[in-house]
Amino acid sequence: MAPAFPAGLDHLPTNLAVTAAAVSAADAASVVLNADQQRWDERYRAGHSPCLDAISPWIAAQQPYLTGGRALDAACGAGRHSLWLAGLGYQVDAVDVSAVALARLAEAAADRDLSQRVRPLHADLTLWRPEQEMYDLILVSLYLERGLLPALKDALRPGGLILYTTFHTDLLQLRPQDNGGGYTATYLLQPGELLATFAGWQLLAYEERRLPPGSEERSDCTSSLLARKVEVDR
Ligand SMILES: C[S@@+](CC[C@H](N)C(=O)[O-])C[C@H]1O[C@@H](n2cnc3c(N)ncnc32)[C@H](O)[C@@H]1O
Repeated sequence: MAPAFPAGLDHLPTNLAVTAAAVSAADAASVVLNADQQRWDERYRAGHSPCLDAISPWIAAQQPYLTGGRALDAACGAGRHSLWLAGLGYQVDAVDVSAVALARLAEAAADRDLSQRVRPLHADLTLWRPEQEMYDLILVSLYLERGLLPALKDALRPGGLILYTTFHTDLLQLRPQDNGGGYTATYLLQPGELLATFAGWQLLAYEERRLPPGSEERSDCTSSLLARKVEVDR
């Protein structure tokens, strides 16, 4: 039987048939993993970590819709939302490219007696894909990889929820001197993009904040959406 979760890319070579093509694909994957992982591991080691207890207020406000089941926290970081979801009764798969962040999450989950409810998964989301119709909830906070979005949609069960919040292009106005703090337009939402991406889904909550003149708040540059995958008649 196929494993419920494809292994992280650090396991790629053993999972692939050893052909010349597979070997070069695995090599390429390792390069991507190493670049992203190295950058993020360094940031987490240097102390960049959203506080474990402080979940996004917009996400917290959606709690009445969150009724439990199986959840994916994509690009979970140190897992502030994974731990919160586990506390709400979800069985959480927490995926991130940073081994440092995942180690922190595992430690925090153990401290809170939530290890049985949170599974840290080390993988590169530019390449890793979840199984179809696996989850009741997918949460993405402060991460955008457009190539992953179709797979996230497929990975939700009919009736499942997508809870998405991340920065949009106003961030570039906030900090033009350093591209919004390291972000480029590639990793920022366009106005209305979340709505367009989940068009046809049942929209439960949506907020697109626009940067007011004089604001220096990164949170004023976020788009957030909660939507339900519509059940299809079979
Ligand atoms: C701004 S942090 C957000 C973390 C978390 N979602 C939160 O809100 O606290 C972005 C996260 O994306 C992860 N990340 C970046 N590139 C990734 C990739 N290619 N695959 C998986 N995770 C990645 C980083 O390691 C980091 O933890």
